[in-house]
Amino acid sequence: MIKIAPSILSADFGRLAEEVKAITEAGADVIHIDVMDGHFVPNITIGPVVIKAIREASSLPFDVHLMITNPDNYLEDFAKAGADWLSVHVEAAVHLHRTISRIKELGKKAGVVLNPATPIESVDYILEEVDFVLIMSVNPGFGGQKFIPSALRKIRELKQLIRSRGIDIPIQVDGGVNLETLAEVVKAGADIVVAGSAIFGTEDYAKTIKAFRQKITE
Ligand code: DX5
Ligand code: ZN
Repeated sequence: MIKIAPSILSADFGRLAEEVKAITEAGADVIHIDVMDGHFVPNITIGPVVIKAIREASSLPFDVHLMITNPDNYLEDFAKAGADWLSVHVEAAVHLHRTISRIKELGKKAGVVLNPATPIESVDYILEEVDFVLIMSVNPGFGGQKFIPSALRKIRELKQLIRSRGIDIPIQVDGGVNLETLAEVVKAGADIVVAGSAIFGTEDYAKTIKAFRQKITE
């Protein structure tokens, strides 16, 4: 079963808790939360206090995508605030193995994220340790960007690598996923699809999520 993870980056931040509740009721599988620090990426979003404030609005897993430098300094804060999954960029985690181990010690699912130009070889020696791999299909920082086609080959190659190891690690894909790009992304091997503007930019979230599921099963 492919999971749909709406990114609240494109939600109405003035009514964030209501939006999280609405997307939960509309049939989302996971709530994707984009944390940006203005250093690792050229945008600033939210931190643990906001995550804590919206935690009660949903019983779905909170998938916290950390686009921050020095992620180790904040893992505990995000775990305490209500994150269930914590993903860190290989480009930001200098001691990636330690960071992944720490996330697991905190009792959370640990994900590793690759920017569009980062090769899959960078996760070769950590693959067995992670709970999921996130392939960025846009440069992180903003919602509503265009899907970068080379991500498809990366998804396919990562899927092959995972299979060749005889392990089962979900591949998450984030950026530019919409009703046009979704089928290719799933065909390439995505297990969890993140979508921000393509869901929150529509009027009827339930209808949009249903259309996503339709595309997935086609
Ligand atoms: C980009 C974020 C994404 C973003 C996706 O930096 O990591 O999660 O919200 O937005 P869309 O789906 O609009 O490309
Ligand atoms: Zn994201």
